[in-house]
Amino acid sequence: MTFSTLDTVPSDSILGLMAEFQADPAGDKVDLTVGVYRDDCGRTPVMTAVARAEEAIVREQASKAYLPVLGPGEFLEPMRALIAGPTLSAIESRLGIALTPGGCGALRVGAELFGLAQPGKSAYVSSPTWPNHYNLISGAGVPIETHPYYDPVQHHLEMQAMADCLERAPAGSLVVLQAACHNPTGADPGPPEWRAILDILGRRSLVPFFDMAYQGMGVDPDEDAAFVRAALAELPEVLVAASCSKNFGLYRERTGALLWLTENAAACRAVASQVGQITRRSYSMPPAHGGLIVGRVLADPKLREAWRREVAAMAVRLRHARRGLAAALARARPDLDCSWIEAQRGMFSLLGIDAEAVQRLREEHHIYIVGDSRINLAGLNDENTQLVAEAIAPLMR
Ligand code: LMR
Repeated sequence: MTFSTLDTVPSDSILGLMAEFQADPAGDKVDLTVGVYRDDCGRTPVMTAVARAEEAIVREQASKAYLPVLGPGEFLEPMRALIAGPTLSAIESRLGIALTPGGCGALRVGAELFGLAQPGKSAYVSSPTWPNHYNLISGAGVPIETHPYYDPVQHHLEMQAMADCLERAPAGSLVVLQAACHNPTGADPGPPEWRAILDILGRRSLVPFFDMAYQGMGVDPDEDAAFVRAALAELPEVLVAASCSKNFGLYRERTGALLWLTENAAACRAVASQVGQITRRSYSMPPAHGGLIVGRVLADPKLREAWRREVAAMAVRLRHARRGLAAALARARPDLDCSWIEAQRGMFSLLGIDAEAVQRLREEHHIYIVGDSRINLAGLNDENTQLVAEAIAPLMR
């Protein structure tokens, strides 16, 4: 039989945990798994600016007929400006954009585009990285290599080892870089480290592919995009995969964007046609609803301001959660220096505990974290932080 040749594959290492958590009947269970933002009460509300934009779109829409294959202009223009910021005016004719089904869609289409342009060339991802990078990039036929990035036991970046590895990477390789709020570590390069990385990319003719899934969740939308903008200003070719899941709270609407910076305007038009063909042969065209919402929020000064305030509040809450956990761990284990948790950015930190310890957290304390020991700090609040710290502290090295 045709399909009896197929085995059952394990559930996704992150998304699979949603079902496990839901099935746990414990009343005091804590979910620190999937990267979804939650407020103090554990809710993921529709953002106010998003709800207002959506109401207006539903009220005014006259049709649901097809839109252009790269997405509606109402999304493409403001989204391109949000990402490129003040660098846009100098590179406008070289910077193309398409609406994609989430950041995942952008990573997949971008990888396929790279594979068409440079068959057989590899993409470098950080070690560790978000596990789905492997699926999306190798699923597009692009071989994957890793470069050193972070020591999860000592809790620090391995910048020299990363630089040494990139210096040896063949010219024309793709380098996947997370713009801000690194997933799963929370550890971002600082300005001197980014400077060194951009210098290597330029000198060694490597093509950066920025994964920007958390613009605004670290510090603010401009600072979180600073190094993407520096790359756009300095390098001849750049790819960006942007997600609107977290910063617009549009998770299930699957809204993202692929941007490509090319050497000249003619190459930019050629890439646009290739992206159109890739999307046509995979999903024909992107879902438009989330993109229209984002476009509306960004184009309306009042909604845009409301959105910026809401993203800022999320970033503040995540920093508060970091401070709270670091302090509670310090109380529980005065021998440990946990200041790295506070210094990191975004939703995630990597505890650096082994798989058995992760399992014990789940079985003995009903605290769910990802198997690589990643925690989502948005799952913490003033009520559960002490309990979580006391369960984690004895397991930390
Ligand atoms: C995560 O890393 O948990 C999120 O980005 C959700 C996902 O798709 O893995």
